[in-house]
Amino acid sequence: MTERILVTGGAGFIGSHLVDALLDAGHSVRVFDSLEPQVHGGLRERGEWPDYLAADCEKVLGDVRDRDALRKAFDGMDVVFHQAAAVGVGQSMYEVARYVDANTRGTAVLLDILANERHSVRKLVVASSMSIYGEGKYHCDKHGEVYPKLRSEGQLAARDWEMRCPMCGRPVEPLPTGEDKPLHATSIYAITKKDQEEMCLTIGRAYGIPTVALRYFNTYGPRQALSNPYTGVAAIFSGRLLNGNPPVIFEDGLQSRDFTHVSDIVQANLLALAREEMDDGVFNVGTGQALTILDVAEALIEHLAVQVEPEIVRKFRAGDIRHCFADVSRLQALGYRPRVRFEDGMAELVAWVRQQQAVDGFERARQELARRGLA
Ligand code: UD1
Repeated sequence: MTERILVTGGAGFIGSHLVDALLDAGHSVRVFDSLEPQVHGGLRERGEWPDYLAADCEKVLGDVRDRDALRKAFDGMDVVFHQAAAVGVGQSMYEVARYVDANTRGTAVLLDILANERHSVRKLVVASSMSIYGEGKYHCDKHGEVYPKLRSEGQLAARDWEMRCPMCGRPVEPLPTGEDKPLHATSIYAITKKDQEEMCLTIGRAYGIPTVALRYFNTYGPRQALSNPYTGVAAIFSGRLLNGNPPVIFEDGLQSRDFTHVSDIVQANLLALAREEMDDGVFNVGTGQALTILDVAEALIEHLAVQVEPEIVRKFRAGDIRHCFADVSRLQALGYRPRVRFEDGMAELVAWVRQQQAVDGFERARQELARRGLA
């Protein structure tokens, strides 16, 4: 069935890939995006849209906090994919009001429209995040499954990076994290993502609008904003390497994440559109495989064929967790299969990165964090 679909943040990294897939599936798509300068440089000022954005979607410039603009964008829509958000974990720890405003209040405005205005929306899919778990799930030899919270100040000061059992202090092993793990958000960004998820599900339930929250794990791929120093680690490292600079690695580089190709994130969104069984539910979207930050740096160095050693700074970035990778069985039971292998995804990322101009703003971002004692 052809749907009329609104994608907030549709000009962004994940949003734009979702737009392509929705158009390919025959839907009609309206993009609503503020073209945030940190992500999109001077496009908004010049009245332009990103080159990569599909020609055959309707484009509306606007901020989700602007109720009138968003209300108009809702006109005639059957489905809303809410992808618009500020996304930097480190940056959220000092731009507190901006993150809460853009993410929590922006989503509140969107939901306020659904609750109070006449509209035709019959499905809402919200981009949530694995960051809402805080630390992932772990195994202790003595206590079985455990959910440690943030490492203590003392432990981090001693550069003793690995997690310990909250009960007995023994070293613990990371396990795949399922959706039932208690949520312990450790950054302002993560708190706003938890807000977005819970607020959307709450209003969806109250007003009978089928709502799905997808908890994205670390997403990478073409179109990730290379010049944004607060973007994801694979894009930051690529931008640094392209400019002849070493990737800067916090802690010891053995912290791990579940690096998920953007096309697999899109796959999960299409499934959420198609499958009623997902309504009112939360789903991890990842690969189930843990990779270290050092693995990412090394893969990029190898694929870019540059002679650079990563700089391991042995400092902790405020708000960071140590390990988290997905248990994707809930989504797999509905047919989701992560399709892109990390090696292939990195090769594709590098091929794309080579064609880009990246301004390396990382030093400035690092100094910001250091000046505030956040890294
Ligand atoms: C990322 C996303 C977040 C998303 C989450 C789950 C960004 C900016 N953040 O957060 O929006 O919700 O995944 O999908 O895209 N690191 C370095 N050096 C750097 C940058 C990072 O060592 O230059 C380390 C960090 O300390 C951390 C790891 O890499 O240990 C991952 O960091 P990052 O890419 O920012 O991802 P998340 O914080 O997991």
